[in-house]
Amino acid sequence: MKTIVGNWKMNVGTRESVALARGVLLALRGKRTLPEVVACPPFVALSEVRKIVARSHVALGAQDVFWEETGAFTGEVSARMLTELGTTHVIVGHSERRAQLGETDETVNKKTLAALAHGLTPIICVGETAAEREAGEAEAVVKRELRTALHHVKLKPKDRLFVAYEPVWAIGSGTPATPADAVAMHRFIKSLLADFLPQQKDGQVGVLYGGSIDGKNAYAFLRENEIDGLLVGGASVKLNEFSDILAAAMDVLEGQLSR
Ligand code: PGA
Repeated sequence: MKTIVGNWKMNVGTRESVALARGVLLALRGKRTLPEVVACPPFVALSEVRKIVARSHVALGAQDVFWEETGAFTGEVSARMLTELGTTHVIVGHSERRAQLGETDETVNKKTLAALAHGLTPIICVGETAAEREAGEAEAVVKRELRTALHHVKLKPKDRLFVAYEPVWAIGSGTPATPADAVAMHRFIKSLLADFLPQQKDGQVGVLYGGSIDGKNAYAFLRENEIDGLLVGGASVKLNEFSDILAAAMDVLEGQLSR
C-alpha cells in the first residue's frame, strides 16, 4: 500500500478546504487502485471537510493534538475532540511546530500516546536540519527524535502509526532529498522501529517521506519499496499537483499488481 497525506497547514480556510476536498474526491473518482489518502485541513475546517469526505476513500487528519483529554488548556484541542469530528489521523511533531511553537521530543511523545489512546493514527514527523546533516548527525538526530517519541508506546493490534521522515531543509524549499538518500534514511528508520516497536505486525507501521514533493518528483519516491508514502505540504493545496501525486501513486500500485 502507499499512503498520501496532504498537510494543508494554515494555507486554506474552511471554504477553500471544502473546495479542495471536493477536488481530491474528483481526482480519485472511477479509479481502481487507490492509495490510502489522508487530508489534514486546519482544525476549524475539520467538520466541514468531514461532510465532504464521509463515506469516501479519503480519511480525515488533524495537524496537531494536545495530550490532555479535557481541562483548562486554552486554545488546545484534545484527541477525544478530534475523534468526535471523525478524525482518524493526526500529524505530531511537525518541524514547523518544533521550530516555532515550542514542540519538543517529550511533547511529541505525550501527543503520540494520547493519539493512540483514542484510536487515532499518529503521523510522527522527524528529520534533521541542514546543519545537522552537514555535521554528519542526521541519523543520530532522527534516532533521538524517534526514541523519545515512541517512549512507552505499545501498539495494540488495531493501532496504526506512521513516521514521516521530513528533512527540515527540504520542507518548502523546492529541494527534496534525493530518493536514494530518502531510501537510506527510511531503511535506518525501519531498523529503529523494529527495535522500538518489537510488537508491530505487517502493515501496522509505515514510513513516509516529506519535503518538497510535487507532481513531477512523487513517482521517483513512491516507486521505492522502502517508502510507504508521502507527506505533502505546499503541493497538497494545489489541486493539479496533488492530482498528479495521486496519479503517481496509482501508477506505482498498478505496476506492483501487474508484477
Ligand atoms: P512541503 O511540506 O511539501 O511544502 O515541503 C511538507 C511538510 O511540511 O509536511
